[in-house]
Formats: sequence, structure tokens, C-alpha cells
Amino acid sequence: MTKGLSPALLTAVLDRLEEAVLVLDPRQQVRFANAAAAQLLPQPRRLPLLLRRSAEVMASGQPWSGRMPLPDERTLQLRISPLALRGGWAGALGAPSPAERQAAGAAGRGCLVSARDITAAVRLETTRRDFIAAISHELRTPLASIQGYAEMLAQKPEPPAADRAAWLAVIADNAGRLARLIGDLATLSSLETGTYPFHFAALEAAALAAPALAVVTPLARERGVTLRQGALGPGQIRGDAPALERVLLNLLENAILHGHSPVETHRLRVELSGGVRQGAYEFLVRDTGAGISTRDQPRIFERFYRVQPAPGRSGSGLGLALVKHIVHEHSGEVTVESTLGAGSAFRVRLPLVERASRSAQPSGAPRQEKAAS
Ligand SMILES: Nc1ncnc2c1ncn2[C@@H]1O[C@H](COP(=O)(O)OP(=O)(O)OP(=O)(O)O)[C@@H](O)[C@H]1O
Ligand SMILES: [Mg+2]
Repeated sequence: MTKGLSPALLTAVLDRLEEAVLVLDPRQQVRFANAAAAQLLPQPRRLPLLLRRSAEVMASGQPWSGRMPLPDERTLQLRISPLALRGGWAGALGAPSPAERQAAGAAGRGCLVSARDITAAVRLETTRRDFIAAISHELRTPLASIQGYAEMLAQKPEPPAADRAAWLAVIADNAGRLARLIGDLATLSSLETGTYPFHFAALEAAALAAPALAVVTPLARERGVTLRQGALGPGQIRGDAPALERVLLNLLENAILHGHSPVETHRLRVELSGGVRQGAYEFLVRDTGAGISTRDQPRIFERFYRVQPAPGRSGSGLGLALVKHIVHEHSGEVTVESTLGAGSAFRVRLPLVERASRSAQPSGAPRQEKAAS
């Protein structure tokens, strides 16, 4: 079928391949490299693993496949197959370079190397592995606690009333924590897969503040935190009210729980304000608490990331990941400014209705239509 296939046509075909294709002769000189190989493996002779494996393949006649990390942190999936040419290597593929001329005529096996960039897949694999490890860890702690206290109750069915009440409270507390963790994971997963049931509508942004403040008021009182509603200017946005209330709630709860500096608990103040700024509605959640270091600031929006997990601050590190996803689904952005020892300010910017309707709709909107159809 390939009778008469010209070297030019063959090269053009090989250059179209996404996979890198490289031919090494018996002296490990490169005799052919397609366009992808020129990009992925520009200097194959500088890759000790490639040289070692190809030498083994040529010697054994057995193919090898496996992963090869590159110095620039990418990972390649390699396959090296033995390649013997009937007429020797002298006239093989293209005009020989001086080095190739020297190698010309060499008998024996060369090899064919094919390579694919699997960096993205490897990263995904690592993220998935870390995620499962983090979930297992998060589930284990409250479960162990529930199990421990349940066993104590079983062994000592009639403990003093105060002990019994305290143990049951620990069990209920940890069960609640597990329920919340599982709920947050389910929400996060639906946000990531685009199946979260958003219901977008035009909203007066300021109206979102009161319900969120009402939920965290008892917590603030319990922790001795001064919770304030600052100025809330008018401004219409398009969004899902319960989801956006959850955003404000998570930020307020964080400010109350994590803003605490152990020395000055009574001084901690948390304020929620909002208004139109630079063409968007901007909510600001400010606290005068412990602050977050510049090293940690970019990481706090990652799933399960906590700065200093401490007893009594028993979150799972999912709250800000949820905030980020919900805000992004509203075509908005969330940012943090913080100074250690001085406090933090979380800013949520959401497109105004006028702007959203003139340009693109919030990214969640088409999904809602799809889900409804
Ligand atoms: N206002 C804040 N002041 C100081 N640290 C904060 C503040 N907000 C967040 N953090 C830090 O960022 C981390 C991540 O916050 P996030 O809301 O994602 O998780 P969490 O509050 O620990 O748990 P969850 O919200 O799932 O119950 C917190 O553990 C805390 O270390
Ligand atoms: Mg939180």
C-alpha cells in the first residue's frame, strides 16, 4: 500500500503526529525526529535515562515502555522499540550529517522512540491521590471520636449524668462535623462538574447581607466577637441568592473563627459592607484579627488547606474552595488582603446587572438553561 511513498510525504505525515517520533541508530545518533520530537525532545542525547533505556533495547531486542521525567518538570510516556534495517543504516531517512556518515554502515539494531507529554494527566493523578488522602484523614478524626465515646458509653452504661451529657455532646458534635463535611464535598463536587442547581435571578446585592449576618450572630456572641454591618450601597446583580449568601456566610464565619488572636479575643471586630466600586458590586468582609501570611494567602482557596489546624477551629478547609467556585460561576472574583497581626479583608466582586446583560451572561446561566431543558 505504501509503495512509492516519497520521503517528503512520509516526513509530512510523521510531522502531523501529536506523538514525538525519534529514530536512533546503533550508535545512538538521531537519524530522524518529527516536528513533535523537535519540541518534546530537542536534545535527546542529554537525557541519560533515554540513552540508557535505548541502549538496553538495542542490546536485548526487547521493547521498553515507561515514564520519563524531564528536567523542566514535565513527564513523558515513552515507548522504545528495537529497529533493524535490512540494508544497514547508511542511507536511512534523510541526508546523513558528518556524525551520521561516521555511523553509516554500522550494523545491528537501532531503535524507534515514541513519546507523549503526560504532564497534565500525572498532575491530575497526584491531585486525586492527595484529595483522597485528605478526605480519609478528615473522616478518620471525627469517626474515631464517635467510636471512642460510644465505646465508653457501652462499657459504662450508667456514668454520672454530667459525663454522659458531655460524651453525648461530643458524639453529636462530631456527627454534625461529618455531616457538614460530606455536604460540603457533595456541593464542591457538583460545582466542579457543573451540576450545581443554580437559579439565577436579578438581585439587590445588599439584601444578601442580612440573612448571612443573622446566621453567624450567635457564633459571634459565643466567641465574644463584635460583628457589625457596615454601609451597604445599592446595586443590582444577577445571581443565585442562597449560593451567594453562603459565600458571605463562609467569609464571616472564617473571620469570627480564624481571625481570633489568642491574646486579644475581646478586641476582634468583624464587619460586612458593600457597594458599587469600579463597575462591579463589591462585598468586603473585614476583620481585625490574626491575619494570614503572604505565603499562605494564595493557598487558602485550595481544598483542605488550613493555615494552622488547631483544636477548637475544627473546619475542614473546604469553605473558601466553595466560595471561590460559587463566585467564579457568577463571573466574579474573590481576593484577599491580609497583614499578620493586623487582620484580613476578603473582597468579592460581582458583575452588575447592566454590565452582565450587555456583555456575556454569568457563566452559570447557560448551565441552568441546559439543566431545565
Ligand atoms: N479571616 C481569616 N483570618 C485568618 N485566617 C483565615 C481567615 N479566613 C480563612 N483563614 C485561613 O484559611 C483557611 C481555609 O479557610 P476555609 O474556610 O477554606 O477552611 P476552614 O474554615 O478551615 O474550614 P471549613 O470552612 O471547611 O469549615 C482556614 O483554616 C484559616 O487558616
Ligand atoms: Mg471556613
